Amino acid sequence: MDPLQPAGPGPRGTLLLATSNEGKAREFLPLLGPILDGLGLGLATLATLGDGGRAFPVPEEDGQTFAENAAIKARHYCGLTGLPTLADDSGLCLEALGGGPGVLSARFGGPGLSDGQRAAMLLDNLEAAIVASGKPGRLGRGAFFETALVLALGGSRKTLSWTGRLHGRMASSPIGSHGFGYDPIFVPRGGRRTLAQMAPEAKNAISHRSLALRAMASDIGRIRAFLG
Ligand code: IMP
Repeated sequence: MDPLQPAGPGPRGTLLLATSNEGKAREFLPLLGPILDGLGLGLATLATLGDGGRAFPVPEEDGQTFAENAAIKARHYCGLTGLPTLADDSGLCLEALGGGPGVLSARFGGPGLSDGQRAAMLLDNLEAAIVASGKPGRLGRGAFFETALVLALGGSRKTLSWTGRLHGRMASSPIGSHGFGYDPIFVPRGGRRTLAQMAPEAKNAISHRSLALRAMASDIGRIRAFLG
């Protein structure tokens, strides 16, 4: 199954993965593919459905939590297409920043910044918060990545959801060239290297996204009943 090619429906229909981001669709596929096979569903993404997704209006992601934003997206595209729709939302939460940037992770620091500039600004904010809190060293550096997945059905009225969290701590400076976003400044719990120093397969094996997909996979009986 190639998430970038329009695929036929499975024996029980098609699931819409509500993303037009190729990289994300590819990252989802190793775990999502077997779930869909088990459910007898084919896969469509916003990029493979209709006019490259351009025909669809984009919803405002104004939720207070990752789960709320994922539900906004899943309901929106399910309502527009009538397809069972899976949407995700994710971000990075720092203890010292009261859980921030959280749902604002993609927009942290304002528009027009590169990933590197956003990460540098986040570390500056963290250092200032650590100084203000009086917790030196590693104490104030705890953080986690979270992904929420929401599956919407029935013209968007019914939803199921799952979450995955990757706990760790913030590095003192950016290191590594793999991955994206805040990978160079996040060290998973029990490790010494940042996510950006890990091979993509090694990151994918432990990531918040894969943990959420594993939770979804272990719920396949409930999903089957939900799909009817
Ligand atoms: P999204 O909801 O998956 O698009 O993620 C929102 C933002 O959170 C991204 O723009 C990144 O800044 C950050 N983010 C989410 N997942 C990751 C990750 O695995 N590594 C680094 N940054 C991430």
